[in-house]
Amino acid sequence: MAIDQRFLDELTARCDIVDVVSRYVALKKSGSNYFGLCPFHNEKTASFSVAPDKQIFHCFGCGAGGGVISFIMKIEGLEFQDAVRHLARQQGMEVPETGVSREDRKNRDRLLALMKDAGRFYYAQLHHPQNAAALQYFVRRGLSGKTMNRFGLGYAPDSFHALMDAMQAKGYTKAELDAAGLIGRSKQGTYYDKFRNRVMFPIIDIRGDVIAFGGRVMDDSTPKYLNSPETYIFGKSRNLFAMNLAKKTKNDYFLLAEGYMDVIALHQAGFDSAVASLGTALTEEQARLMSRYTNEVVICYDADNAGQKAAQRAIDILNRAGLRVKVLRIPGAKDPDEFIKAKGPEAFRKLIERSENHIEYRLQRIRDRYDMTEDEQRIGYLNEAAEELAALDNEIEREVYTGRVAKDAGVSVDSLKIQVEKALNQRRRRQKTRQRREVRAPAQHAQPNSREMRYENVPAARAEEGMISLILADNTLLGTIRAQITPEDFTSPDLRSIFEEMCRMEDEEHPITVTAFEGRIAPEQMDLLTRAVQRCYVSRDRRGQAMEDYLQIMRKTRLSRRTAEGQDPMLELAGLMKKKKRYQGPQG
Ligand code: UTP
Ligand code: MN
Repeated sequence: MAIDQRFLDELTARCDIVDVVSRYVALKKSGSNYFGLCPFHNEKTASFSVAPDKQIFHCFGCGAGGGVISFIMKIEGLEFQDAVRHLARQQGMEVPETGVSREDRKNRDRLLALMKDAGRFYYAQLHHPQNAAALQYFVRRGLSGKTMNRFGLGYAPDSFHALMDAMQAKGYTKAELDAAGLIGRSKQGTYYDKFRNRVMFPIIDIRGDVIAFGGRVMDDSTPKYLNSPETYIFGKSRNLFAMNLAKKTKNDYFLLAEGYMDVIALHQAGFDSAVASLGTALTEEQARLMSRYTNEVVICYDADNAGQKAAQRAIDILNRAGLRVKVLRIPGAKDPDEFIKAKGPEAFRKLIERSENHIEYRLQRIRDRYDMTEDEQRIGYLNEAAEELAALDNEIEREVYTGRVAKDAGVSVDSLKIQVEKALNQRRRRQKTRQRREVRAPAQHAQPNSREMRYENVPAARAEEGMISLILADNTLLGTIRAQITPEDFTSPDLRSIFEEMCRMEDEEHPITVTAFEGRIAPEQMDLLTRAVQRCYVSRDRRGQAMEDYLQIMRKTRLSRRTAEGQDPMLELAGLMKKKKRYQGPQG
């Protein structure tokens, strides 16, 4: 299943990232790094960088990043193994995988069977009288029995081993459950069910196979949703929730929502072409997947600011996949689920009919804020609209909409054109300075680009990021760090996974470098890792102090989290002391 690590090391050593990237992007050297236009998002000034010393790329604009294999995966739209093969072929190297493909298929089938059985288990639990509260939860949220069955909804009982026991009784091993991402392993080496006391949403691929699960708490605790990790059979950036159903629709458009619950509510209300991306921002691959089944996508994201921002990004991605895009606005409700519950399916159908194409949508959002009967307000509107028009890449579109806006505001087309021209020039200048600043001080952007990865505790996450980049700069620090903190002390689940992987590398006596993470963590986590490295640079002589600072923040965070969870901080202190003693034992 996995490609031999020594082979990967050899391959990444032979492929120089500057060479590989240069085949796709025109790079210019500046200092010790190279810059170019990012191939992963639309931009006019170069914010895409390649660092030959670390053998990584990173875009300050869209946050994409990684090593040479990640680059090929992203740009060629390949899975990890295929990207490796692609690079190996260019290097004239043979991937050591005799008979693997048959083996591969067998593994895959086995995992799929396991996921299906797990889905059946969760489903049975949902309908078990003992778990009436879970069924009640769905009922309270307005789902019919038919809808629950259509989506195969289930419930993971409040137990650390119920699923494990049931699956082992069916002949699956712990290793298989682990590979499926259904169980985790504690520090002491004991396995436990990952999904506990959560209502379960199976994620089913185009072929109808269960490939992952999302599990939601039934109260306000966090994280609200827990999702399967990337596994051998599940890549979240390549799949869409409910795609298995939506692909059969008679509608000539797809509806793209943010949440599992939105999609389910939409289907129940008769909108059977609704899908959602899986907790992350929409990806190019997902857009291409949709474009195989439809020509038009109506975005119906949450009405809040975050949702609207995500919609703007999704517009570009969908456009690039050749899809027509409309954006639906949901007045007086936070998301489609709420809207349908409050106003009914007919009202939602009207919204779809009235949904605006993306330029109209953007212009309308601006117009809403101005009172067109007042001259001063009209000027404000025209200025802002000119900026929006200047942002259009397509000149014909710019022409058409400039005409419309001018007519709408009662001014001559020529005068508005001059305004748009001005805005265009300003825009170019701004982009240049912004880029210069970002390259110099990229630390301004505290949050990851992926919405799902958003940090709950920013100061803590910064320390965690810092810690991770310190370890990359000097692998020998990990020993000291491991003695004082554990993966559980990380507040960001993604940074935690990265740290766990680092510990694993240390145990395997493998050097800890960014490229060593290729294929070991999810692509979005790779973006995050590269970003952390790029912005937390600490000079050699300050590393010791930086480590102490980060450790202190992380310990403090641990303490306050425990207190917040209602545990006695004194117990924690006692625990700390015990841990320290245990660590010092073998040395003293
Ligand atoms: P929402 O919070 O809007 O979820 O997140 P929702 O589906 O509308 O759920 P309800 O109505 O509160 O029950 C949108 C999507 O983002 C992902 C999930 O895929 C969710 O459906 N998400 C959200 C996560 O993966 N993890 C989280 O902690 C939160
Ligand atoms: Mn919701």
